[in-house]
Amino acid sequence: MATAGLPFVPLLVHSHETPLKIPTTTNLATDEAFWAEVRNQYVLDKKVVNLNNGALGPQPIGVQQAHIKMYEQSNKAPSYFMWGEVDGKREPLRAELAVLVGCDIEELAINRNTTEGLNTVIFGLNLKAGDEVIVSDFDYPFMLNAWRQRQMRDGIIVKEVKLPLPIEDVNLAVELYRKAITPKTKVVHLTHIINWTGQIMPVKEITEMAKGFGCEVVVDAAHSLAHIPLSFQDIGCDYMATSLHKWLGAPFGTGAMIVKKEKIASVWPLLSAWEPQSADIRKFELLGTRSFPAEMAALDAIAFHQNIGLEKVNQRLLYLKMYWAERVAQLPRVTLHTSLKPEFSGAMATCSINGMSSTQLADTLFEAHGLHVGIIDWNGLNAVRVSPHIYTSLSELDRLVNALAQLAKP
Ligand SMILES: Cc1ncc(COP(=O)(O)O)c(C=O)c1O
Repeated sequence: MATAGLPFVPLLVHSHETPLKIPTTTNLATDEAFWAEVRNQYVLDKKVVNLNNGALGPQPIGVQQAHIKMYEQSNKAPSYFMWGEVDGKREPLRAELAVLVGCDIEELAINRNTTEGLNTVIFGLNLKAGDEVIVSDFDYPFMLNAWRQRQMRDGIIVKEVKLPLPIEDVNLAVELYRKAITPKTKVVHLTHIINWTGQIMPVKEITEMAKGFGCEVVVDAAHSLAHIPLSFQDIGCDYMATSLHKWLGAPFGTGAMIVKKEKIASVWPLLSAWEPQSADIRKFELLGTRSFPAEMAALDAIAFHQNIGLEKVNQRLLYLKMYWAERVAQLPRVTLHTSLKPEFSGAMATCSINGMSSTQLADTLFEAHGLHVGIIDWNGLNAVRVSPHIYTSLSELDRLVNALAQLAKP
């Protein structure tokens, strides 16, 4: 009965169920018949066209069903089933997530979201008054707030780099951060994909430069997982966190934090642990009672994602972004705030219409056309962010382009 309301489709649970058949078409990104089948794996609202997947991604039906199944089982005897059987999947989940983010299995802790992961790192680092930390004016507010709280409480100095977005020059990005580094700089905080505009930052190159000055590097990878190629080891940073409920399509409230093996012992956990200075990454998972079915259904989201494969997902997302953004960029009064080069943006792009506020534009798109987009109002950028996902259809994007064309008429 728990699945009432969901159309019946084969479960995509842990690979023993039949996965979606992937055609061998050379250009799968434009194979509309295949992507229509992918779309059938989701329950979508008939009235709301969701073009704000960057905020939160929906879960494929198989993931929802797996979640519900574990939830129901847990309810039969919670401490027995949830703490026993369901949580028994924790180590397999850690192993699969480590493959996805390109880190060692002993470097990854499963938690609730990026905010929790990065706040753990920010509040857990050994920093003293006068130590400098570099952030940017387009980092995520709750990470900036965390650093500023340390500034108020511990006397560290938070220095802000101003990013002239969109950036299409790797050297320029590296230089901006390099110029801010002084002998007192201990940490550089970077955002891999900037939520305000979808800008992909050259985090590997900035990390390499910052490491040359002996700084530690924190990377906010909230949007990177299951969206663009991601490898903790390749980036070379010390700390990273991501959310599983954005592009991976895992249940809401699931995330991961990654800490370089040799740094685990020196990061204090945010919540108490048996041995706070332990080098075991699991010290960051003592978060009290929470819903393990939600966490463990991430395995089903990984199975769904891996069946299609990151490369194909990424190519489709890039194709969808270009499909609407290239046409919208030609419209009078429209400004695109995102580079369309694949190395500088993924699925998300942000645009504005001269003379319309972000809320006016978003409200009109929704009320007159049923299109739900993200509202951006940050650092003088007043615009809307469009983020399609792999289930988004071309006709939905046509609707967006037509609506913007109508609104942008001189
Ligand atoms: C860049 C960035 N970092 C962190 C977060 C926070 O993610 P969560 O709410 O999953 O912790 C977001 C959310 O949109 C984000 O865009």
